[in-house]
Amino acid sequence: MSVTPALGELLRRAPVIPVLTIVDAKVAVPLARTLVAAGLPVLEVTLRSGAALAAIAAMRAAVPEALVGAGTVLDARQLHDAVAAGSQFLVSPGFSATLCTAAQGAGVPLLPGVATPSEVMAARAAGLDTLKFFPAAQAGGVPMLRALAAPFPDVRFCPTGGIDLKSAPDYLALPNVLCVGMSSVAPAVLLESGDYGGIGRLARQAAALGPRSGA
Ligand code: 3PG
Repeated sequence: MSVTPALGELLRRAPVIPVLTIVDAKVAVPLARTLVAAGLPVLEVTLRSGAALAAIAAMRAAVPEALVGAGTVLDARQLHDAVAAGSQFLVSPGFSATLCTAAQGAGVPLLPGVATPSEVMAARAAGLDTLKFFPAAQAGGVPMLRALAAPFPDVRFCPTGGIDLKSAPDYLALPNVLCVGMSSVAPAVLLESGDYGGIGRLARQAAALGPRSGA
């Protein structure tokens, strides 16, 4: 049985985490295989569609090389559903002490979103030092992450939101950034048309991104 790595190690596996919203669970396995083969083994499946839990379960069963997490986890019920489906990590858009407690109880790492110093302090008080910076571009982007590094030198981030292949290298060059999340490596238009060749090309570009000072 495979062991899920600790969150910091997991986020160092690749420069980009694809943020996937899957509306038809039958694309889950070919999509995961395409992304893993391209060099992106850490996948976030958002709980924004009815197919999300089935997609996570299908990926876990058929693509053991992938590390599959659930995104957009908003409450403890969703967290437990995501864990029951096989999620190896959990991502939430904001910080919630209730979710932290639920994740600790489930024994599954949580990557909560923060956008302000107060939220970073709340997350640190809950024992977390690895956080999602969300929504990254809208919440101040690279200058904000530089500013957060001064009072929080021990905290590492996965910025997500408004990041694409063009802007990602500026984030990845920051010492407090382990990786970035982005949805644009698996755009809905390519998913709907089953264009795994196109997704593979985008994913290979993402996997080759650097430098990664923080990792
Ligand atoms: C997320 O769900 O984390 C973000 O919405 C992904 O952001 P993006 O679509 O701007 O990449």
